[in-house]
Order: sequence, then structure tokens, then C-alpha cells
Amino acid sequence: MIPEVRNMWIYLILICSVAANAVLHPRSAVPLAFSKPPSSAVDYVNPFIGNGGVAPHSTGGMIPTVAPPFGMTRWVAQTRKDWVSVNPYNYTDTTIHGFQATHKPAIWMGNSGQFVVVPGAGEVQSVFERRGMNFSHDDEIASASYYSVVMDATEGGTIQAEQSATSRVGHLRFTFHDTAAPYMLIEATRASVMGSADPTNVTYPLGSITVDPARREITGRNPEREDFIIGPNAAPSFAGYFCARFNVPFASFGIAQNGTNAENVTSGEGAMLSGFARFAQGTRQVTVRVGVSFISVEQARKNLDSEIPDGTTLEETAEKTRAAWADKLDRIKLEGASREENEVFYTAVYHALQYPYEQSEDGKYYSGYDDQVHRGDSYTGYSIWDTYRAAWAWQILLAPERIPGMVQSMLQDYMEGGWLPMWKNIVETNIMVGTHADSLISEVVVKGIRGFDLNIAYEAVRKDATVPPVDDWNITYSDRQQNVGYEVRAGLSSVYAQHGWVASDIHSEAASRTLDYAYDDYAVAVVADAVSQHDDAAFFRARSLSAPFSIFNNDTGFMEARMANGSWAGPTAGWTEGDMWAYTFDVLHDFGTLIERKGGNASFVAFLDEHFDGGHNDHTNEPSHHIPYLYSLAGAASKSQECIREVAKANYNNSVNGLSGNEDCGQMSAWYIFSALRFYPVNPVSAEYVIGTPFYDKVTIDLPGATKPLTITSTGAPSKPYVKSVTVNGRSLDTPILRHEAIASGGHIVFEMSDTPQAWGSQTLGAR
Ligand SMILES: *[C@@H]1O[C@H](CO)[C@@H](O)[C@H](O)[C@H]1NC(C)=O
Ligand SMILES: *[C@@H]1O[C@H](CO)[C@@H](O)[C@H](O)[C@H]1NC(C)=O
Ligand SMILES: *[C@@H]1O[C@H](CO)[C@@H](O)[C@H](O)[C@H]1NC(C)=O
Ligand SMILES: *[C@@H]1O[C@H](CO)[C@@H](O)[C@H](O)[C@H]1NC(C)=O
Ligand SMILES: *[C@@H]1O[C@H](CO)[C@@H](O)[C@H](O)[C@H]1NC(C)=O
Ligand SMILES: *[C@@H]1O[C@H](CO)[C@@H](O)[C@H](O)[C@H]1NC(C)=O
Ligand SMILES: *[C@@H]1O[C@H](CO)[C@@H](O)[C@H](O)[C@H]1NC(C)=O
Ligand SMILES: *[C@@H]1O[C@H](CO)[C@@H](O)[C@H](O)[C@H]1NC(C)=O
Ligand SMILES: *[C@@H]1O[C@H](CO)[C@@H](O)[C@H](O)[C@H]1NC(C)=O
Ligand SMILES: *[C@@H]1O[C@H](CO)[C@@H](O)[C@H](O)[C@H]1NC(C)=O
Repeated sequence: MIPEVRNMWIYLILICSVAANAVLHPRSAVPLAFSKPPSSAVDYVNPFIGNGGVAPHSTGGMIPTVAPPFGMTRWVAQTRKDWVSVNPYNYTDTTIHGFQATHKPAIWMGNSGQFVVVPGAGEVQSVFERRGMNFSHDDEIASASYYSVVMDATEGGTIQAEQSATSRVGHLRFTFHDTAAPYMLIEATRASVMGSADPTNVTYPLGSITVDPARREITGRNPEREDFIIGPNAAPSFAGYFCARFNVPFASFGIAQNGTNAENVTSGEGAMLSGFARFAQGTRQVTVRVGVSFISVEQARKNLDSEIPDGTTLEETAEKTRAAWADKLDRIKLEGASREENEVFYTAVYHALQYPYEQSEDGKYYSGYDDQVHRGDSYTGYSIWDTYRAAWAWQILLAPERIPGMVQSMLQDYMEGGWLPMWKNIVETNIMVGTHADSLISEVVVKGIRGFDLNIAYEAVRKDATVPPVDDWNITYSDRQQNVGYEVRAGLSSVYAQHGWVASDIHSEAASRTLDYAYDDYAVAVVADAVSQHDDAAFFRARSLSAPFSIFNNDTGFMEARMANGSWAGPTAGWTEGDMWAYTFDVLHDFGTLIERKGGNASFVAFLDEHFDGGHNDHTNEPSHHIPYLYSLAGAASKSQECIREVAKANYNNSVNGLSGNEDCGQMSAWYIFSALRFYPVNPVSAEYVIGTPFYDKVTIDLPGATKPLTITSTGAPSKPYVKSVTVNGRSLDTPILRHEAIASGGHIVFEMSDTPQAWGSQTLGAR
């Protein structure tokens, strides 16, 4: 998925002299040599992977944050003011302006209820430009659970910052060397660039701040939600609340507003508002724990006391968060992978377990859909157009304990707001097309997971498939269109009234919508069967099979958008972040018919060759992700095996530029994880995976839901890309398809590898 970039940025080609792996010790210490194998796979995580890039859309868009898996708040050094399409940490920057508690799930989304903890020494500087401190990447340490950096204090001396975090509490420690008297400032509100990437269009969210010297606390509230302008939910009471508690008494304190400091003032309300506390000259170290809440300051304080109680050291917090990552990452053991492959792989797993993030706290959550606090679990940060492809399948395998709560959370969104989420960032944002929550729910159902209300689930997905959005005939629902209701299946009215397609003269992205809605219909049919609504199932299944081919142009052999009157709209109209090449392969649930329409296996394979040889595959965006696996479905598995390795090599590495496209809440990484493991969920709701090619000699996975480990051996794989045979628990496999049960319940899968193309799964190719 590509971020919105409205401005004409001049992208500087930056020459990065920094080594690929930027995980280093601070200046006072010796470089951290990776000479021996790490004690945990967590040590392979390199949070800088995917942070570089010359443009927001040609980068992973990832930032070096600390938080546990699915943590509510992620903490990051702030090197620039973030807004839509701009991250708070940019690898090319040389100054740090504080440490931000961020709720921005992806580079192209807005932040929500964020705030910044700013250390300093001497005169209190609240203005962003004046509070920046020089730093060098040589003085940074970054890991999944701990981050440290040394900065030059503005009036001389240095400040070392260290941070870790639990889901709802940040733990920060600042050590002052040869500085003026230390202070800490917390910025609650700032001038904001709301809902737009135009930095000159500024608004002023009104928040509040309270300084309480007796409790050594600074508390506050920030209602900023940059995405408020898109999406149907006003969420009027939304705010991020915080309660920061310091371990050192305040020598003096005050409030700063719009660059002016007011001494001895203990509370304030309004725009561009910060609170500060100074510490006695000579104070060497200040530790602050910061509870975060979407409910209230009292709840933020409660979160602080329950997650990081008084007396807890930063080391203890970092150890706890490291253990939370180790609990996931150490379940997977790779043999025969290089250092770089280990870093790419485990960082991918770390990326794929960040979103969606916890929005509930203490068994309650603020819902922006009905502006109430409810009991229950809740999650937000759902980029479902991206993540339904493989990220969700990976979370089902590695975090099954979360899945019922995540599904129930989506059902709550439906009950409170009327619809399942598409791209929920606190509330719905209408970004991207399709109601792919249908796919998430269907995949869970077909994989046998329960623990949520299945009848409500069916009601919700059925509504997606049957109820068009408000004023469907009159609104185009273009990307980020403002002042519209829930987009859901925009153009569904055309599907009913015409012949099965979304009309390109009425709706944006009509061809992609047609194909996406068809797949979603298939998903809905699966859920219908699960609740014994077999007539509904037959209806949705039939529509899912006919709709894609209503836009297949026999004359060109490509999918093509159509107008309401049936005429073709031309090869470039109606696509969502892709083109006719990627989308002609987008019939995830019915490749049999697509292959037939393309003239059979041999001609489909030739078409795939043309796609790849012609440079049409664009792995930096999601519509291409499954295409390398399609050779296997047409009896040309050895070509999939070649292609997958090439895509992996060209698009993933362990540098700051190591992701060729946006991470998209874990989808970019999920492709790599499945591909490295050797299978991919081409059609997620089939509960089948298509076999690719193993990258390493052996993988052992201790899946949380399985009674025995899954071992996959493929001796020689690093140098032998071709598959000669596959056995699953001793039974040989003739087709390159693995059922979900064969993976989820553990067992032995054995690949026999070769350095030349093999006949296995490749009957279409004959002897090569
Ligand atoms: C980082 O900053 C540079 C210089 O302003 C900019 O060109 C680049 O696009 C930014 N990177 C990302 C990922 O936003
Ligand atoms: C920070 O770096 C800039 C540019 O290199 C330099 O001009 C400035 O003096 C530095 N400031 C401090 C406090 O070191
Ligand atoms: C400024 O941003 C607001 C909110 O995004 C938008 O409604 C308004 O049209 C923008 N104004 C200009 C001049 O771009
Ligand atoms: C902030 O201060 C500047 C001058 O220093 C002034 O121009 C501006 O209007 C102020 N903004 C607000 C929101 O008070
Ligand atoms: C703030 O209060 C303290 C203690 O009452 C007092 O000593 C100090 O002068 C006050 N500072 C200002 C700037 O008013
Ligand atoms: C929207 O479309 C409906 C149905 O075609 C029509 O009745 C209505 O007048 C239209 N509204 C506007 C504002 O054009
Ligand atoms: C396109 O080809 C299919 C399959 O051969 C056929 O059923 C269909 O009628 C053709 N459509 C047109 C408009 O010729
Ligand atoms: C169909 O509709 C399109 C777009 O409105 C128009 O350009 C075209 O002439 C129409 N074709 C026919 C055959 O009516
Ligand atoms: C095409 O290849 C697939 C996958 O190997 C196979 O299942 C199917 O039978 C083949 N179709 C024909 C017509 O040979
Ligand atoms: C890493 O991957 C990025 C993006 O795919 C690419 O631009 C860069 O050249 C690669 N670097 C290395 C060292 O392979």
C-alpha cells in the first residue's frame, strides 16, 4: 500500500555511509561484536530494517521502536515532526527532539493521542526546532525491547537516553554528563497537520497538562487524531492520556505554551502545551515511567501502577519485554541460514507481530464508534487490504491466543459502528477497497478457531455482501475522499443492477473492487455454510465465481474495468495500486477457471513468464505478492521455485533499505516468512498453502497451538533451489499443496532438494 504524498517532494538521494547493521554500542563502550550466536532469536532483530529509503513509498516505513508484541504504545526517538506520510524517526536526520509515545501504525496513517517526553539541561526549550540535540547512529543501540542513544545537550555535555516499554507504559532513563541543571518536558499538544500531507495547513488541537510536584507527576491529555478528516466516525471524546511519574523530586516546574515558559504554574489547557520539571543541579540521572490510556488520566495512572509498579528498574522492564518477544521468536529455529538471513527472518517476525495493537486497557476500551467506554478486549491498527493476504495467516499460526479477541474486537466495531473494519486507525478511515474482514473471519472459521460470536460474525459479513454504502450511486468513493460515510463495498449497487461488475463510470477503482468483492463473497459463503445458511452460501459462491469473469476481456486476455452500459473502460482504468498485469492474476479463489480462460496450463505458464520477464511483477505492492506461487498451480512448480528466490533476494535484506515496499502492518514481512518456511496462503480462506522452495536446511517450529513441533527439513536448500519430492509425516505429496492441519498440528515435512529443475509438480513443463 502506498502512502498519500500530496506535496512535490524533492527526494534527495542520500549517500548512507552507515553500515548495514546499525546495532552498536554507545560511544563510551566497545563495539558489540556478533562473534558468538545470540542467546535468543530476539538478538537477531534489527529495528532499523525498513527505515531508510528515498521516498515514503519505496521503503518499509518502519521505525526503531520499543514495545512488546501488539503493544498499545510504541516508543521512538523523535527526529522530525510526523504527519501522514512522514514518520517521527527518519534515518537521515541528525537531531533528536524527544522520545515519542506513538500510535501511528504505518507511515501513511496519522498519529493519534501521541505525546513526547523531552530531556534537556539548562534553559527549558519547548519549541521543536530549539530542543533538538545532535546524535550519531554510532551511539545508538536498538533492539526489540531496549533503545539507547547519546545526544549532545544544547548547552554542553551529553545526555544518554534509554527506553523500554510494556504495552501501555513507557520506561525511560536519562543520564546527564557535564550538563547544566537537568529538566524534563512533556509535550501534550502541538501544531498539527491534520489529515493532509500539506505541512502549511495547520490546526491546533486543544489539550491539557497538570504538574504535580508532590506526586512527582506530569499528567495530560491530547485529543489529536490526524486522520479525523477521512472516515465516518467523529470519535468526539477521543484523546490520548498520560501519567508520567519521575523518581527525582522537582526543584522547580511550570507550563510552556507556544514557546513561552510560565514558572510555578501547575496546570494549563490549550494548544502547543507542555509541562516541565527541573531537577537539582548535579542530578546525574532521572527515570520516568509513563502510563498511557485512551480512557482517562486516572486510567493511565492505573496502567502505570499495574504494568511497571514503583521500584521496577529499567533493566527489569526491558527483560520482561524481551521475554515477551523471545516467547514468540524462540519458537522458530533455523538451521543453515546465514547471519543476514537470520536477521531478515526474525526482524520480519518482529514486524509481523506489531499490528493490530491493543486498544483495551484493564479489561475496558474506548470505542470511537459510539464514543463510549465498554468492557472487553479491543484492537486497532488494521490494514486489512494488506494483511488479509498472509499476515493474518501468520498470526493465526504464531499468536493463536490473540485471534478470538481480535475477531471479537472486529465484531464490537460492527455492533458499535454498524460495520466491520476496513482500515481501523482508532476508528474507520475508509482507506483501500474491499471488505476483507470477511476474509479474516472466514479464514479463522475454516481453520477451526472459535471463541467469538459466530452468528454475529455471519450477520456482519453478510451485511458487507448485501448492503451498499449510503448514496452508493452518487459517490465515487475515491481514495481518501472526505466527508463520506462508511465506504465498505462501494459500487455494490452496480453489481446488483448490472451484470456483476462495479461500473467504472460511477466508482473509483472499479475493476479492483469487482475482483476484491468477488473474493470477499467467496469468504462470506464459507461463513454462511458454517452457520448452516446454505442457500445464502450458494448465492454468494455463485456470485463469487461469475463476477471476476464479467470483467475478463476475451479479446485482450486481461481483466478490464467496464462501464455501467457494459462497454470496456480501457486497460489502465479502475485499478487499486496495481495494473492489469497484477490484477489479471487476482482471482484468489478460482484459479482453475482463470487458467482455463487463459487457454490452459501451458498457456497460463507462458503468460506468467511474460509477466515476470516483462518486468510487470511489482513486489513492492501487495497485489503482486501471490503471483510467484501461481506457476505451482499450473503444473510448473520448478518455475515458482526459481521465481520466489529471486523475489526474496531482490526485495529483502538486513539494511535500512531492506524492505523494497511498505511493511503494511506486517504483510511485506509475512510474505518473506512464509516463503522462507516454504509455503504461502495464496487463497487464505481455502486453509491451503501452496508450496514454494525452502531457503534453509531445516526449520523447527514450536507452534503455540500444536501438541508437537513442526520440523521441516530440506537438506542442501541454501544451494539447491529445486524440489524433487515432499513427504508429510512419511506420506509422499504429489501436488504442491499443504493443508493447514498438516502445519498447525506439528509433524515432519521432508523436502528432497536438487540443483536442477525437477519433474515434481511440474508436469506442464515436461522435460526441461
Ligand atoms: C527521510 O528524509 C529524507 C530527507 O528529508 C526524505 O527524502 C526521505 O523520503 C525520508 N524517508 C522516509 C522513509 O520518509
Ligand atoms: C550540532 O550540529 C551542528 C551541525 O553539525 C553544529 O553546527 C552544532 O554546533 C551542533 N550543536 C551542538 C550543541 O553540538
Ligand atoms: C486544510 O486541512 C483541512 C483538514 O484536512 C481541510 O479540510 C482543508 O480543506 C485544508 N485546507 C486547505 C487550504 O488545504
Ligand atoms: C504562537 O506564537 C506566535 C508568535 O510567537 C504567534 O504568531 C502565534 O499566533 C501563536 N500561536 C498560537 C496558536 O497562539
Ligand atoms: C516559584 O515559586 C518558588 C517557591 O514559592 C519561588 O521561590 C520562586 O521565586 C517562584 N518563581 C517564580 C518565577 O515566580
Ligand atoms: C443519488 O442517487 C439516487 C438514486 O439514483 C437518486 O434518487 C438521488 O437523487 C441521487 N442524489 C443526488 C444528490 O444526486
Ligand atoms: C468469452 O469467452 C468465454 C469462454 O470461452 C465465453 O463463454 C464467453 O461467452 C466469451 N465472451 C464473449 C463476450 O465473447
Ligand atoms: C457507454 O458508456 C460510456 C461512458 O458513459 C460511453 O462513453 C459510451 O459511449 C457508452 N457506450 C454505449 C454503447 O452506449
Ligand atoms: C493443470 O495443472 C494443475 C496443477 O498441476 C493440475 O491439477 C491440472 O489437472 C492441470 N490441468 C490440466 C488440464 O492438465
Ligand atoms: C537492500 O534492499 C533494498 C530494497 O530492496 C535495495 O535497494 C538495496 O540495494 C539492498 N541492499 C543490499 C545491500 O542488497
